[in-house]
Amino acid sequence: MNIAVIGLQFGDEGKGKIVDYLAEDFDIIARYSGGSNAGHSVLHNGKKFKLHLIPSGVLRGKIGVLGNGMAIDFSVLDEEFSSLKEEGIEPRIKISSRAHVVTSFHKIMDEREDEIIGIGTTRRGIGPTYETKVKRVGIRVGDVFDDNVMLKRLKLATKLWGIYYEKEVEKEARAIKEQVRKFKEFIVDTEIWLNEAIRAGKNVLFEGSQAALLDVDFGTYPFVTSSNTISGGMLSGLGVPPRVIDKIVGVMKPYMTRVGAGPFPTEIFGDIAKELRDKGNEYGATTGRPRRIGWLDLPLLRYAALVGGVDEIALTKVDILEGMKKIPVAFEYDCNGKRKYPPLHIENCKPIYNELDGWESIEDDNLWNYVRMIEKEAGAKVRIVSYGASREDTKLIG
Ligand code: IMO
Ligand code: MG
Repeated sequence: MNIAVIGLQFGDEGKGKIVDYLAEDFDIIARYSGGSNAGHSVLHNGKKFKLHLIPSGVLRGKIGVLGNGMAIDFSVLDEEFSSLKEEGIEPRIKISSRAHVVTSFHKIMDEREDEIIGIGTTRRGIGPTYETKVKRVGIRVGDVFDDNVMLKRLKLATKLWGIYYEKEVEKEARAIKEQVRKFKEFIVDTEIWLNEAIRAGKNVLFEGSQAALLDVDFGTYPFVTSSNTISGGMLSGLGVPPRVIDKIVGVMKPYMTRVGAGPFPTEIFGDIAKELRDKGNEYGATTGRPRRIGWLDLPLLRYAALVGGVDEIALTKVDILEGMKKIPVAFEYDCNGKRKYPPLHIENCKPIYNELDGWESIEDDNLWNYVRMIEKEAGAKVRIVSYGASREDTKLIG
């Protein structure tokens, strides 16, 4: 059985926690998109881990695959790897020879470009790394071992950006070589390794990063990340055929958050937003930025569940809304007429709210009414509910 775990909102739904919860039954945990823009927090043996690149499942001793669809910053990977080792975890990983390498130039360009574009990126060099990939001047992990190839691509990329200085480029090429060489033993053609493992009957959990509403095609463009983060992204991001996926689990919160700029129709401000932000610790795991807060938006949820092909839902952070008398939920949009799904431009849509009764505990009927409502609107069963941060607070239902 192979399953995928993907985000149904704007990221930070608790994908890391759900992957950790499910990982036990799988041999391999594979990531297919993004890079260190992701921040997956997991509470493991009473300790909080923040993972950016390494799939969360390695905490349970599983093999983590960093797929070709990823943008990998090896300086971050090195730190993450070392900090896991310090905690007594020996990460078992496979890194794709075809994944693209984030260099200092990509990070500089991310900052410069975002100053002008104003997306509010994580400034981890992700956008520019996908930019050089499609411009055909990127450096793949396996290219690093050929000095000529790497130097040539770095020259071309920096020339195209107008930041070419020979000495700087040579220095960066040496630094990248140094960083990547440390991981040489883990680098393989993961598309071959993974497909052979699947054919041999191994169970794979595909760990999504970011989320449907940040997908470069289906998110709130241009306020999106630069890769395909819906379930479809795993096909090209790992080189596996569609038929290998048996089930897709969408992760969501009963409210919403967003980091960075971009439309957010149900966004709220003031005391309630502040209260939920603090109670839910809604601060970026990667950048520390306070997350914007909003009510559940059903047009966006219906859309995310539809394009992501979600079979089941994992509902996280349910405890954060505990104690609220009434919970507003946007059932439709008013954008010169009522809409069940978001139109291409959602900036001018006004959410039409209904209020649902709040809950006092995980046993409260009102919570289960809320859950049934989500199932009906998303067209998928809620199978996992998490009511607290630790693994014990996560329950399988239904
Ligand atoms: P996880 O996997 C939340 C957002 C950034 C910005 C936009 C583009 O932890 O859910 P980028 O650096 O990717 O070019 O930024 O996407 N973003 C995320 N927001 N969680 C994430 O990952 C994110 N990865 C990117 O805030 O608005
Ligand atoms: Mg995050």
